[in-house]
Amino acid sequence: MHDLITVKDLTKVYTMGDVEVHALHGVSLTIHQGEMVAIMGPSGSGKSTLMNIIGCLDQPTGGTYQLDGVNVADLSDNQLASIRNQKIGFVFQQYMLLQRTSALRNVELPMLYGGKGGNRRERAQAALAAVGMAERMHHKPNELSGGQQQRVAIARALVNEPRIIMADEPTGALDTRTGEEIMGIFQKLNRDGITIILVTHEHDVAQHAERIISVRDGVIAGDEPVKARTIVPQGGSQGGQSPP
Ligand SMILES: Nc1ncnc2c1ncn2[C@@H]1O[C@H](COP(=O)(O)OP(=O)(O)O)[C@@H](O)[C@H]1O
Ligand SMILES: [Mg+2]
Repeated sequence: MHDLITVKDLTKVYTMGDVEVHALHGVSLTIHQGEMVAIMGPSGSGKSTLMNIIGCLDQPTGGTYQLDGVNVADLSDNQLASIRNQKIGFVFQQYMLLQRTSALRNVELPMLYGGKGGNRRERAQAALAAVGMAERMHHKPNELSGGQQQRVAIARALVNEPRIIMADEPTGALDTRTGEEIMGIFQKLNRDGITIILVTHEHDVAQHAERIISVRDGVIAGDEPVKARTIVPQGGSQGGQSPP
């Protein structure tokens, strides 16, 4: 399998005045193209810090990071931004949609910052259709449920055709059943070949991945394949449109 992400001895120290917080203490791991991985651990263990570094949103204090054969430490801020745009789609717990803006416009926005070419409107519509939101694309976020807003956020993450989707607690604000639907979407995207890396502190959510990396106090405490993986059935809750 192709090594997509390789980090070695990663450390991260946050400095606030004269206080230093050592968030990562030497993390090494490899994630292959096409994997679906959950990063698990209690609050404060360093999950988001690790995710932000892997997602090229932040640089480590020490260690090395190779993304798709490129040494990330060598990149300028502009190059980092361009890698993020081309290769990585982000999904967050709080959806991060623009409130006064339709689902369709929200999904079109990342294409304005230099994604792939082609017809923006059509591609946004296709991304929304892929997450079961074709019929609500003209709705604004406050006219949508939490689960529907997260679907729009996933469409926005998809629209530049990234190879990797990173999701930080994507089901954290959703009820169990809606969270399950969202995990079904990630599983479908993963079957389509997208590498999925999700952060969660919930065991049941992590069981949807094929591998669980456990983080504790800034170090890797475990890295195991999921034995009895939860698969969300196709067509069931996964399609996403509620009946009229
Ligand atoms: N921007 C920051 N500035 C200072 N400390 C931070 C910052 N981000 C995270 N931390 C600290 O780093 C540690 C790990 O945080 P984080 O990666 O957010 O953990 P998790 O996502 O697992 O809850 C915590 O002690 C947290 O308080
Ligand atoms: Mg976090």
